[in-house]
Amino acid sequence: MCGIIGYIGDKPVSKILINGLKRMEYRGYDSAGISILQDNKIYTIKKKGKVAELEKMVNHEVFHSNYGIAHTRWATHGYPNDINAHPHLDNSGDISIVHNGIIENYSVLKTKLLSDGYSFKSETDTEVLAVFIGSIYEKIKDIETSIRLALREVDGTFGLLVLSKREPEKLIAARRGSPLLLGVGNGEYLVASDASAVIQYTKQVIYLNDNEICTISHDGYSIKTIENEDTEPIIEEIEFDLEHIEKGGFDHFMLKEIFEQPDTIHDAFRGRLLVDEGNVKLGGLNAVIEQLRNTDRIIITACGTSWHSGLVAEYLIESLAGVSVEVEYASEFRYRNPIINKNDIVFAISQSGETADTLAAIKEAKQKGAIVLGIVNVVGSSIARETDAGVYIHAGPEIGVASTKAFTSQLTVFTLIALLIGRMRNLSKWEGQKIAKEITLIPDKIRYILEQKDKIKEIANIYSKVRNFLYLGRGYNFPVALEGALKLKEISYIHAEGYPAAEMKHGPIALIDENMPVVIIATKDEIYDKVFSNIEEVKARKGKIIAIANVGDEKICEVADHVIYIPETLPVLTPLLSVIPLQLLAYYVALDLNCDIDKPRNLAKSVTVE
Ligand code: AGP
Ligand code: GLU
Repeated sequence: MCGIIGYIGDKPVSKILINGLKRMEYRGYDSAGISILQDNKIYTIKKKGKVAELEKMVNHEVFHSNYGIAHTRWATHGYPNDINAHPHLDNSGDISIVHNGIIENYSVLKTKLLSDGYSFKSETDTEVLAVFIGSIYEKIKDIETSIRLALREVDGTFGLLVLSKREPEKLIAARRGSPLLLGVGNGEYLVASDASAVIQYTKQVIYLNDNEICTISHDGYSIKTIENEDTEPIIEEIEFDLEHIEKGGFDHFMLKEIFEQPDTIHDAFRGRLLVDEGNVKLGGLNAVIEQLRNTDRIIITACGTSWHSGLVAEYLIESLAGVSVEVEYASEFRYRNPIINKNDIVFAISQSGETADTLAAIKEAKQKGAIVLGIVNVVGSSIARETDAGVYIHAGPEIGVASTKAFTSQLTVFTLIALLIGRMRNLSKWEGQKIAKEITLIPDKIRYILEQKDKIKEIANIYSKVRNFLYLGRGYNFPVALEGALKLKEISYIHAEGYPAAEMKHGPIALIDENMPVVIIATKDEIYDKVFSNIEEVKARKGKIIAIANVGDEKICEVADHVIYIPETLPVLTPLLSVIPLQLLAYYVALDLNCDIDKPRNLAKSVTVE
């Protein structure tokens, strides 16, 4: 949530800040702002709306300064408007801050500051922090210490970047709970919420840890803890290239990411799958291999799409490895006093690696003594570092707010994990070989589905004006139904619900009439006939049926209004295929409605607040 960027170096700063904001706009996009210190004056420009709006205003000014800070916001406290946009200034107007996160005790601090005679212009928690830092600075006249002292009094989360007129040619960054990294370039430094904003300038980065504070000048940087202890920063190399965060000829990042899936799935199993042995090698889990062999129960925790992949993982692990699995929303897990037994293992799934609820669930599980393993996309992210061990999904940067390729890569990795545990327990070599071999065929089968994009677009255009959709699936395809519904809601703002197909008759069937499109996944497996009966039930009530069926299934045409064919595969691998038409359907509905597909309203890519 929100993107922070700061620069200090030898280049004119305004372009670098605007470019950085554009690269991170998927993190938050309700308003944006910039502060540049020049000729002993802080120039602050803030604007409601997209970064392009801010850019127009910044382009009217001539800036020669070579350092400054900027922010793209996802509002938590106060409407998205010009005043609430960041940066925020202290009462002297000499200290400017941008902030990601929530200052939970802001109202207590605000009341105290008001009684001391300070005033506020915005409704944000962030301005309270700015004024608080300024109030301390008045007494001690040292900006770094003022920030340090202020942060000790603060409850909540922050990624923070500060610029002060009193101590020019310097930026100060601090983090607790919200991501922040320092890009170390050649004679220049950048501070950013994520690597996509700095990669154009440098691949060398230091990921700040919680409760660290970093002071950066033209001559170098120092990182200490908020308690003023020394740290040993490690410089790491960003693993992706600039081309990975560009659209590469596609109209939207989401479409590009959907089409990348044959490759990203391949990247998820490459070098890990031992087809001849029907087994798997996952270096990231070596340290916990015995615990995985002996575990009695696996708990999976995640949010949103990652939670849906956890639901598929439950089916996968229970059937291939014979271990009982529970899947829980991270936001519920963290507040529920969960029972963790001695041999339990917790998996946390996250594309961004920064989701606040998932991070908190991890901390809760660790507190209770569980081994916590991360299934994460973003290398070096907070969840990757907070977990005891784990597996990267290697999907590359996912920029579209609606998650697509991360989902299928998560599923691929969980298939590998289920195989790994299964082969240490009861799964036969023959069974393992069969699954491993079939995994290698998945990328081509996805290519076959992607080729049907025009047909899916036609179906999308027929139904784009309805207000409700129902998605049904059973077994492995039930979580896929949930995911298909989530995709549609997120980017087209059409209400959609996912249900296990058999549950329909227990309530949702009341919704069905000739205006209700029902997307039903009816692949050939042992419950195909049951799903077929569910389709008949919809048909009897005049619902419009969009079926996802296997190539060669002619019978389905008797009942379905539209059929999207996907190749046959093993039931355990079906979600990797059945979700693809649902992603495309959502995309083309949103396209027909002219929605802002990569940046849907009210959302942000990584949800770093509770
Ligand atoms: C997916 O399309 C959503 N934007 C959202 O539900 C997302 O999956 C969720 O916020 C979890 O994010 P994470 O995987 O980065 O932890
Ligand atoms: N809580 C702050 C606000 O509402 C920061 C939000 C963000 O992370 O963008 O302004």
